[in-house]
Amino acid sequence: MQNRYWSSFVKNLVPYTPGEQPKVNNLIKLNTNENAYDISPSVLKAIQTNTNNLLKLYPDPTSQALCQSLADLHHVQPDQVFVGNGSDEVLGFAFHALLKHEKPVLFPDITYSFYPVYCNLFNIDYKTIPLTGNFKIDLEQYDAEDACGIVIANPNAPTGLLIDQETIRHYLETHPEQIVIIDEAYIDFGGKSIIPLINQFQNLLVVRTFSKFHAFAGLRVGYAIGNTQLIEGIRRVKDSFNSYPLDRLAQIGAIASVKDIQWSVNNARQIIKNRDYLINALSELGFTTLDSKSNFVFTSHPKISGEELAIQLRKNKILVRHFNLPRIQNWLRITIGTEKECQILIQVISTIISTN
Ligand SMILES: Cc1ncc(COP(=O)(O)O)c(C=O)c1O
Repeated sequence: MQNRYWSSFVKNLVPYTPGEQPKVNNLIKLNTNENAYDISPSVLKAIQTNTNNLLKLYPDPTSQALCQSLADLHHVQPDQVFVGNGSDEVLGFAFHALLKHEKPVLFPDITYSFYPVYCNLFNIDYKTIPLTGNFKIDLEQYDAEDACGIVIANPNAPTGLLIDQETIRHYLETHPEQIVIIDEAYIDFGGKSIIPLINQFQNLLVVRTFSKFHAFAGLRVGYAIGNTQLIEGIRRVKDSFNSYPLDRLAQIGAIASVKDIQWSVNNARQIIKNRDYLINALSELGFTTLDSKSNFVFTSHPKISGEELAIQLRKNKILVRHFNLPRIQNWLRITIGTEKECQILIQVISTIISTN
């Protein structure tokens, strides 16, 4: 579709396609990596007790109290923290603020598919670097001569594979001219954050989300941590676009969630337990599953194509994510559900496999 009133750049935009958000309730929804469990009761209470007449007033544009609680959580200063409407918005601002240079930005060919979308929106030059044969990111291939920076999801999506801290530290040490953005959307499900290195490396920006670890996808909170000048660059973009990105309820809920961090830690333990169960059960059914350190698995079966399995699961009211892309057509990304959801998934897959 085209329209004569559109600005010319809109004609060439290719927007991001999110996973399906179904309009019916009785589905097992394992397609968009939300947390399988309900938000912490203390967060809900904090939000409920604040739906008062303060809602008529604009929220704090700088989310100062939330920045302070995140700074305390991560042992950094509040001016090293930027918060936004989900990490999608934070990433968008960071791409705009930090990655538009003569040289391209580099990221893997198989990764979070919003990265090329931001590049197209902001007219940022980018180059993709293929994952290795076993779907790993090899940072040695991210050549400093050719790039203004790199963006790495760690763990990567949709593979779930983790790069260890020492490998990233080595890249930072040997590439001081490049901006290094590490998207830690899934780090709390089995990895170790690189945030402690931000004071040592001026070129490091770490982006995080409340959507997964804090079970907050419906409230939209994300943040970035980096040195004050990187944060100031991102803030300038935000203040040129939307002064009040985080509403009052999101700010209050996020502060309550940081206070109740033990709930998230326990919740992540349960999800890791469910993940171990799922990986073992899939293996017994003949699947190859990558070593996920996230709240999803990436899996493939020799007898049935990824697309066909996704269709069959859909018929059984289970949603998973299939990407019709080279090299991963035969794979499915499946979000870790509750114990019960994982058991139902395995029963249904087992029936599908035995009848194929
Ligand atoms: C790697 C990665 N980064 C960022 C996001 C965006 O998360 P949100 O905008 O919900 O914070 C996602 C969402 O699934 C993701 O997979």
